[in-house]
Parts: sequence; structure tokens; C-alpha cells
Amino acid sequence: MAVDEQKRTAARGAFDYVEKRLENDMVIGVGTGSTVDYFITELSAIAHRLAGTVASSVATAQRLKEHNIPVFDLNGCGMLEIYVDGADEANHNLQLIKGGGAALTREKVIAAASRLFLCVADESKLVHVLGEFPLPVEVIPMARSHVARQIVKLGGDPVYREACVTDNGNHILDIYNLDIMDPRKLEQALNQITGVVTNGLFAERGADILLVGTDQGVRTVTC
Ligand code: 5RP
Repeated sequence: MAVDEQKRTAARGAFDYVEKRLENDMVIGVGTGSTVDYFITELSAIAHRLAGTVASSVATAQRLKEHNIPVFDLNGCGMLEIYVDGADEANHNLQLIKGGGAALTREKVIAAASRLFLCVADESKLVHVLGEFPLPVEVIPMARSHVARQIVKLGGDPVYREACVTDNGNHILDIYNLDIMDPRKLEQALNQITGVVTNGLFAERGADILLVGTDQGVRTVTC
């Protein structure tokens, strides 16, 4: 089965999960990426039953609005019941690398502000050790070179993501050649570097449930 079909399978699984737990006036968090785009298409069928959504990127907000799904500012919503988002890599402890789509900071904020983080991914994303996918780090533009030098000291190879400005007006460094044996420790170490806004390790607050789209259907991974 093609990767796209696996993404669609995972997205349908997330839709079923959300639909079963939908309550009046529920606001759900919606992430960014191609897997989530399939989820948004499914979600449009029950748009009338949702109070609305909070989007992790301008692109997702646009897509939700195109499907007549209301989009709210997180500040007015309190804690969200469910957040649905994809991942670039996930380990069996449900720790993730995210930010391939440069939306990591808003994704991390929504994950922190949600009671349940439901992650959706195709089978290729499930790994034993995080780090084959280059780890994105969002940086304040003027701090880019300084942050890059500190990352080298931590053993990584940072590469500036050309022509990429995040929704927050910042830049991205992608860190190559990391074997991330202790994701929590690295997440904290990167956050300590002055000039870093967020890093794409979701270890401290990983996913609660991972729905993996496979050729045989949805595989549910929990800790
Ligand atoms: C965006 C992300 C995405 O969730 C991640 O890149 C996965 O994308 P896709 O579903 O297209 O494979 O973190 O910042």
C-alpha cells in the first residue's frame, strides 16, 4: 500500500476516535501536515457538531476554513480535550520528532494545552531510536549562528533550512546525525540555548495515543 493510503487510514482512525467522543461545543486542536489534511477532510462531515478548532499553523487554519470549520484563538479556549497531529518520527514511548512542516512551536503549545494528544502517522514513522529524521529547531533569526555553534558542541550537525520563515517570523535549523538515546535530556538541553524558541522533540509531552496507518488497517500504540 502507498504511504499516502497509510496516512489516510490513520486519519480515518483519528476521525472515528474523535467522533465517538464528540461532545456538544467541543473545540479540538488540529495539527499540520499531509496526514492531518486527510483528517480535516474527514472532519468536514461533522463540522456542524463541532464548536470549532484551534489550528497549529496558518496553512491548517486556511484549510479548516475552506471546509467551513470555525477556527479559534487558543487564548479564548482553555484546555482542549483532544489534539490531533502527525509526526516525522515516533518511538515506542510515544516520544516524537515534529516540525518537518515548520509548525513545531504552535504544535508544542497546543499539545501542552490539550488533555489528549492523538498522533497519526504512516508506518514508516515508527522507529526504535529517534534521530534519523533531522531534528528541527526554531530560532530567532539573529541568533541562528550562535545557536548553530552550540548545537555542534552537543554533537549535532545543524543545517539552515533555506527560504523558510515560520508562522512566528523565525528560522529553522535542522540537526542531522543525532542518535537520540535520551530524548528528554536533549529536549531540555536544546531549550537551554539562548535564541532557541522551540525544538521539535516532543519527549516531555509526547503523544498519548499513536494511530499508525498500515496495509492491514490502523494499529494503535499506547505506552
Ligand atoms: C509539521 C509536522 C507534521 O506533523 C509532520 O511533518 C508530519 O507531516 P506529514 O503528515 O505530512 O508526514 O510536524 O510541523
